[in-house]
Parts: sequence; C-alpha cells; structure tokens
Amino acid sequence: MTGTELIAERAAEANANLARARLEAVANVVAGDAREVVAGLGGPFNCVFLDAEKDEYGAHFAAFFPKVAPGGVILTDNVTSHDCTAYQAMLRARDDVETVTLTLERGLEFTLKL
Ligand SMILES: C[S@@+](CC[C@H](N)C(=O)[O-])C[C@H]1O[C@@H](n2cnc3c(N)ncnc32)[C@H](O)[C@@H]1O
Repeated sequence: MTGTELIAERAAEANANLARARLEAVANVVAGDAREVVAGLGGPFNCVFLDAEKDEYGAHFAAFFPKVAPGGVILTDNVTSHDCTAYQAMLRARDDVETVTLTLERGLEFTLKL
C-alpha cells in the first residue's frame, strides 16, 4: 500500500509511525505531489483513496485513473462537506465509471472503474 504526501515532514512522520507499528513492509508514504509521484508508481491500483485539496480532485483523478484496474474502486473524501460538484459532475459524464455519493460522515464518493 502506497500513500503520497506533499509535505515532506508529514511523509516522514507517517513512515516513522508505520515503522513503529512494524508495518513498513506493508505500507509506505512517498513525499511529493501525488499528481507527479503517481507516474513513478507501479500499478494497476485496485483501490485509490483521494483526500487532498478539494479543487484539485479532478487533476488527481486524471493522473491516477489510467493506472486503476478495471473493477478498481476510487474513494473520494469530503464530497458533501466541501463543494466537489465539478468533480462529481465530471465523474457522472464519463461512461467508464459508475459512481455514487455516500452521505455518511463528510461525504464519500464511491466510484467503480468499469
Ligand atoms: C485532509 S489531509 C489528509 C488526511 C488523511 N487522509 C488522514 O485521514 O489522516 C490532506 C493531506 O493531503 C496533502 N496534500 C495536499 N495536496 C497534495 C498533493 N498534491 N499531493 C500529495 N499530498 C497532498 C496535505 O498536505 C494534507 O496532509
């Protein structure tokens, strides 16, 4: 499992926490802009959790979506607590995904790649 984090100190703290929990072989966090980091990651991805700047969701989606496996799931956080309507409209205009908004907590967009 791989995460990304723009702020290097946060990535280092996350990796230290993973090491303390002896999970460093299971998960790691790569420092950098996810939209750039993703190009260097393997794939395909079976699950992507998106929780960055809300007005950048579309750009993140464009960067990682080609690496999502058919049948893969994209979970996008905060879609009701923030204005993510442009992102949600973009998803609904596509014919290669099915998507539904779960209204639990702060809103979670559950998107399936067809
Ligand atoms: C809402 S917090 C995520 C919280 C995390 N999901 C959790 O539950 O603990 C958003 C994080 O995304 C990071 N971030 C914002 N834009 C990013 C980008 N382009 N690439 C990577 N990380 C980014 C921020 O630095 C911040 O730490």
